[in-house]
Amino acid sequence: APVVVAIDGPSGSGKSTVSRAVAARLGLSFLDTGAMYRAMTWWMLANDIDVADPEAVAVACGKPVIVSGTDADGPTITVDGRDVSGPIRGPEVTAQVSAVSAVPAVRARLVELQRGCAGVAERGIVAEGRDMGSVVFPTATVKVFLTASEAARAERRATELRAKGLDEATITAMAADLARRDAADSSRATAPLTQAADAVLVDTSELTLEQVIDRITTLVEQ
Ligand code: CDP
Repeated sequence: APVVVAIDGPSGSGKSTVSRAVAARLGLSFLDTGAMYRAMTWWMLANDIDVADPEAVAVACGKPVIVSGTDADGPTITVDGRDVSGPIRGPEVTAQVSAVSAVPAVRARLVELQRGCAGVAERGIVAEGRDMGSVVFPTATVKVFLTASEAARAERRATELRAKGLDEATITAMAADLARRDAADSSRATAPLTQAADAVLVDTSELTLEQVIDRITTLVEQ
């Protein structure tokens, strides 16, 4: 059967960078499921759906056509044919994505799309998110739960934002937002961030990116 590598963890654990690099190295497809929740949220906001109203979100969530391009060398995401890879990273989407992704109908729809992506991946897939090992791919070949200390995660996020030229006040405000989102993602009733029982815990606080990539690649090749 094709390989499925399920990688879960909180924001700032290095998940996206690591997952994509592992996929590229192993010649597997790559799926950023957070981008799908972001794309759904972007569509809701663009269509004036009240994202604070779970019923309104549930009713509308079947409408957008969300397509993920799973090439590890250049992943893409479109909504109704439009490239949304830029706007889904904006502050408006980031502020609302936890609320939208807590709606069961949203999750049911996106989980189905995620399994579909894995089903058509020729050699296998590296899928990253919050519930890959626990819900979406319970029989994954390898499950990894990436963590890092709160301090290491905050520091990584700040470095990313500084590289984008943001000022320190904005970075501090975004750190507070991030802490709120992590708390919401971990405590919500629907698919909270949890480590699957059979997931390998990798704490990245003291590891370089290369070391994390090596460790996961080794787990897959074993
Ligand atoms: O910004 P960051 O990389 O931390 O987040 P992301 O991976 O882009 O995911 C954005 C949001 O989508 C998360 O805060 C979760 O609320 C939600 N999400 C989810 O509920 N389940 C997933 N499998 C992936 C993301």
